[in-house]
Amino acid sequence: MELHWLLPLIVCLYSLRALPLPASGFVIQDERKCKYARIEKLLRIRCYDMDLKEVPQNLKTSVEVLDLSYNRIRKLKSGSFQRYTDIRFLMLYENMILSVEPGTFEPLTSLQEVDLSNNGLTTIPMELFTLPKLRNLYIDSNELTHLGLETLQKPITAPLEYLNVANCELQDLPDLGVLPKLWQLNASMNPLTNFQIDGLANMCHLRVIDLAKTQLSPCSCQQVTNHIMMLGANPKFVPVCMEALSIDACPLPYNRTIHSETFRSCLSTVDLAVSRSLWLFAAGCFGGVCFVLLIVIWCVSRCRKKRAKRRMSQAQKRKPFVISPRNATNRQPEDEPLHCDTAKPSIIVH
Ligand SMILES: *[C@@H]1O[C@H](CO)[C@@H](O)[C@H](O)[C@H]1NC(C)=O
Ligand SMILES: *[C@@H]1O[C@H](CO)[C@@H](O)[C@H](O)[C@H]1NC(C)=O
Repeated sequence: MELHWLLPLIVCLYSLRALPLPASGFVIQDERKCKYARIEKLLRIRCYDMDLKEVPQNLKTSVEVLDLSYNRIRKLKSGSFQRYTDIRFLMLYENMILSVEPGTFEPLTSLQEVDLSNNGLTTIPMELFTLPKLRNLYIDSNELTHLGLETLQKPITAPLEYLNVANCELQDLPDLGVLPKLWQLNASMNPLTNFQIDGLANMCHLRVIDLAKTQLSPCSCQQVTNHIMMLGANPKFVPVCMEALSIDACPLPYNRTIHSETFRSCLSTVDLAVSRSLWLFAAGCFGGVCFVLLIVIWCVSRCRKKRAKRRMSQAQKRKPFVISPRNATNRQPEDEPLHCDTAKPSIIVH
């Protein structure tokens, strides 16, 4: 009975005894190990700030959230993530990544978010744009001076929703073709001296755009403001324009944005996707209903067959009773005493 009290006491004493341990060198070394945890059912491994020079290859391969930030990784190799194909969230910020071998990100078909900010990249690894699930891309604070987007196949496959290219020395917004799902673009702290308003026609569902600390020309500034107002997007991070220019000096942007062919095709991409998914849903429902109906019909026919069979066999079983009068009387409850009666005489006899 006293055990109820004893157990917490033992646990308490044990933890007290264990407490002074972290001061020893053993635990400091332990801190350098990658830490495993489950966050919202996802397996997370944190290997941050460990002076790593390469992506470790001895981690559990089912890792879904991998944090490699604050290390000294200089190069990502084609085999770096070959073993970790379940990664959904990948943090690589604050490293020294200068180059990425082709094929590095290719195996990461479940990747939804990658953070490559604060590295030494000069271009965005193009294969990121072919990943089927990539929604969020952070590549801010790199010197993206050699983007080379001319060879990029557009529209891109990645369903980008968030893109951060802040502080990347960009002269203009990167041209990634239509981005129908993009709702937040951060291009702050870039010079953007060659900014063309046409770029915004690719983003028909933009809700937030950060253009703070850029050197937009007065006309570009006015056009962006006009466009944002027309879109109903958040104007909070758009710089306040110093001069008000006349329409002659700075035409309204709509012919080049929301009234353009590009904008229309961006909208129709989403419409198409919505109607396609609606069709799929309807087809799925129809299929489901058919399946249930088939099962019901099958059950009913099976039940009927069974009942018919039972009736048949019962009829067959009954036949001999009918033929033999002895058996027929046996089935009646009043036969029971008869049994006893026959037993009793045998006892009496003995
Ligand atoms: C844009 O990115 C910069 C740099 O990462 C950040 O400081 C800023 O808060 C971001 N803006 C928004 C609106 O999130
Ligand atoms: C732009 O739109 C206006 C109407 O808003 C139209 O009169 C004008 O011709 C258009 N310009 C071009 C170049 O399409």
